[in-house]
Amino acid sequence: MNHNDATRGRFITFEGIDGAGKSTHIGHVIALLEGAGKTVVSTREPGGTPLGEKLRDLVLHEKMHLETEALLMFASRREHVAQVIAPALARGEWVLSDRFTDASFAYQGGGRGLDRAKLDALEEWVHPHLQPDLTLLFDVPLDVARARLAATRTLDKFEMEQADFFARVRAEYLRRAAQSGGRIVVIDSTQSIAGVRMALQAALEPWL
Ligand code: TYD
Repeated sequence: MNHNDATRGRFITFEGIDGAGKSTHIGHVIALLEGAGKTVVSTREPGGTPLGEKLRDLVLHEKMHLETEALLMFASRREHVAQVIAPALARGEWVLSDRFTDASFAYQGGGRGLDRAKLDALEEWVHPHLQPDLTLLFDVPLDVARARLAATRTLDKFEMEQADFFARVRAEYLRRAAQSGGRIVVIDSTQSIAGVRMALQAALEPWL
């Protein structure tokens, strides 16, 4: 897939530790892009296809070996790229995904300690020529994220992890952001909703 092809759509992903608030803001980004005349496809991982949603249910609720977990994330992603992401980009649509491969590096790599080389190999297998054009990383300190999660819902397998797990996930996200050459934009999600929206507008500006 040629990233310079003007007719190709753009691929934007949303990342952050659980409770960082990304779900609150995806709708706003959809509205901004649609307001700018883009056709937007909104999707998520794990999931995004009928098979992927079945895998999501397994991977978020069943105990399993950490490599099984990583393989299922990438199995769901393989289906998602083939069925949803690549066709939409080829049609010139903008794809917004609530999580993508950065989450595997942060959660299975940073959080669970899976060897990064194995994740590199899976990434190379599943989407060798596809990377997000822009990744919005919603960042908050752990205590803020924990308080938000506790207030909003019943927790899945990942959300029940301990604080040190999320500290490693967050550190890996920030490490990747620092090395991303500008692809990953860190959004300070401790700000008010209005403040976050301004930061999102600024991050999207070069693409509009
Ligand atoms: P999340 O995106 O937070 O959805 P919801 O807002 O509905 O809870 O939940 C997905 C969980 O899956 C999240 O805890 C991170 C985890 N995850 C991984 O561990 N690895 C991955 O590759 C992906 C895509 C998600």
